[in-house]
Amino acid sequence: MRAHIERELKGYAHNIHDEISGGISGVIIQLENIKRTLARVGDEKTVSDINLVILSATETLEASRRIANKLRPSLLDHFGLAAAIDQMLKDFQIRYGVNTSLVIEPNALISKNDKQKLSERQCLEVFRIAQEVLNNIIKHANAHHVDCEINGELEHVIFTFKDDGCGIGWDAVQGVGIGGIKIRALSAHGSVSITPLCPCGTMVKLKVKVLNNDAHRQEG
Ligand SMILES: Nc1ncnc2c1ncn2[C@@H]1O[C@H](COP(=O)(O)OP(=O)(O)OP(=O)(O)O)[C@@H](O)[C@H]1O
Ligand SMILES: [Mg+2]
Repeated sequence: MRAHIERELKGYAHNIHDEISGGISGVIIQLENIKRTLARVGDEKTVSDINLVILSATETLEASRRIANKLRPSLLDHFGLAAAIDQMLKDFQIRYGVNTSLVIEPNALISKNDKQKLSERQCLEVFRIAQEVLNNIIKHANAHHVDCEINGELEHVIFTFKDDGCGIGWDAVQGVGIGGIKIRALSAHGSVSITPLCPCGTMVKLKVKVLNNDAHRQEG
């Protein structure tokens, strides 16, 4: 069921990207051409009106890219989980001014025979979990640093996120977010723990099982 929904979201994401973003980009290019013609004949007033239209079209283009990316992160499709998490952390740092770091143990995600250890579905679940972990940090933690590590064991890949914020209380009331993290962890053949750190902060540790080849193929 979840795989079906993700496939549909991927379709919507591609439609938004190709049709809406492509269409708006075309409009912007045409407006730029019209603007150049008007500038040549000295119609300053219309040029400045067109500039306003271009600005709002550019903002709409950005919004449609953001929506497409939420539905289906294109980096994940094209460059894989490590690159997608790396970009997510960099965006987070720029947007919220919270320092981030990412350490990936060599071969944590790629097996000796050059195969991705995690299936496409597992990668997507991990990516969505990482998004909610960062959402929670910005909503609740008041942190200055977020450190992420990806480590490989023979049969598992382990993702660790640590923040240095106020720390999740043992009595924190689980909302939709952490509920979703737990469901996604199970769906990725994994388990998750969310614990306060000493002296401050919170650690989210996600342990995902590396599937054998047959199960890997079935998952897609
Ligand atoms: N990194 C964190 N630092 C401090 N507290 C946290 C952190 N992450 C989660 N919490 C606490 O855990 C609670 C539950 O988180 P959860 O994501 O389930 O719900 P939420 O963020 O409040 O709402 P939503 O359902 O929209 O995600 C939060 O309300 C918050 O008190
Ligand atoms: Mg939340």
